[in-house]
Amino acid sequence: MNRNLVLVILSLSLAFYSCGGNSEPTSVRDETPDPGKNEYVDPNANPGGIGKFKNVELTHPLDDKMVTAGESIYDLKCGSCHKLTDEKLVGPGWKGVTDRRSPEWIMNFVTNVDEMLDKDAEAKAMLEVCMVRMPNQNVKDDEARQILEFMRKNDGKN
Ligand code: HEC
Repeated sequence: MNRNLVLVILSLSLAFYSCGGNSEPTSVRDETPDPGKNEYVDPNANPGGIGKFKNVELTHPLDDKMVTAGESIYDLKCGSCHKLTDEKLVGPGWKGVTDRRSPEWIMNFVTNVDEMLDKDAEAKAMLEVCMVRMPNQNVKDDEARQILEFMRKNDGKN
């Protein structure tokens, strides 16, 4: 068998076993994130992540067009590594992601993944467990918002 292929399979299976989907997320929010409020006890916790998104406005009900657009991006660029359940593939499953992360954190992570993985405490902790670095997917700002809407739908938000 091709040596590179063997390496890929080895590293994928290693990642699979070392980053089980049933482990507790590194941080679980115990209250609904309030984007208008930014008084957090630990300034290093960076609940909004690192990037340009400081205050993401969520709309109710969900925007169906954005959900559909987000789903197409998921199918194209994310589904190879992320399941929609809480089961881990290469990266964590997306079920519950909008409860464990703020909208700002998600959008900053998706559009600014390299800096987030280098500097954001939560992202760094996740990388340590998963041991695979999520590649930059060249996601545009409006695409990130569509993905977020699709994630909210997947989490049963309305
Ligand atoms: C090659 C595999 C891969 C692809 C493709 C990928 N990701 Fe990831 N993703 C990861 C890994 C691995 C992590 C965990 C952090 C790390 O180790 O880099 C992650 C973490 C995440 C997280 C944080 C999840 C959590 O539970 O906090 C989000 C959000 C995310 N990815 C969104 C996306 C989006 C959106 C796309 C598609 C545009 C995408 N990912 C494509 C591998 C991938």
